Amino acid sequence: MARPHTTLAIFLILIVVLFESAVYSLIIIPDKQTVHITNNISSSPILNVHCKSGDNDLGPQTVRHNQEYNFSFHANIPLTTLFWCGVNWNGGNVINSKIFDIYSTKICWIKYSDCRWYASTDGLYFFDNKKNELVFKFGWDH
Ligand SMILES: *[C@@H]1O[C@H](CO)[C@@H](O)[C@H](O)[C@H]1NC(C)=O
Ligand SMILES: *[C@@H]1O[C@H](CO)[C@@H](O)[C@H](O)[C@H]1NC(C)=O
Repeated sequence: MARPHTTLAIFLILIVVLFESAVYSLIIIPDKQTVHITNNISSSPILNVHCKSGDNDLGPQTVRHNQEYNFSFHANIPLTTLFWCGVNWNGGNVINSKIFDIYSTKICWIKYSDCRWYASTDGLYFFDNKKNELVFKFGWDH
């Protein structure tokens, strides 16, 4: 027969596992979060995007006009996931760039599995799922 301590440890592990899946299923948290960024800059065929988190470097990406780059992950509990990106495009005689936080639970409403951003000529727009509208967030640095 298993010793009481072993039984207790297995029991506690089971509780933790069940609790975590209960948090995902009962409270609104989608299993997977996807962040999208679309190149909506008509004068720039290429948008360079490089995103990272504390433990992931997603590597440099090139996003063509009217195309999107996306990445997905499993939001951790206690919801501390943070991704930031450096983006830039060639505006002829200037390089337009921005480094910004693209995903945290403060930025992207956790209830929705998709978090959408658009790079436009004047700057970066975020699609606010709650208000169902585009919100201008950042202009370009030169
Ligand atoms: C894309 O760019 C066009 C032209 O600048 C603008 O009218 C439109 O609102 C932009 N769309 C998004 C989703 O940013
Ligand atoms: C995510 O990006 C890939 C490759 O760029 C694309 O094929 C796919 O349609 C995108 N997914 C969504 C949900 O837009």
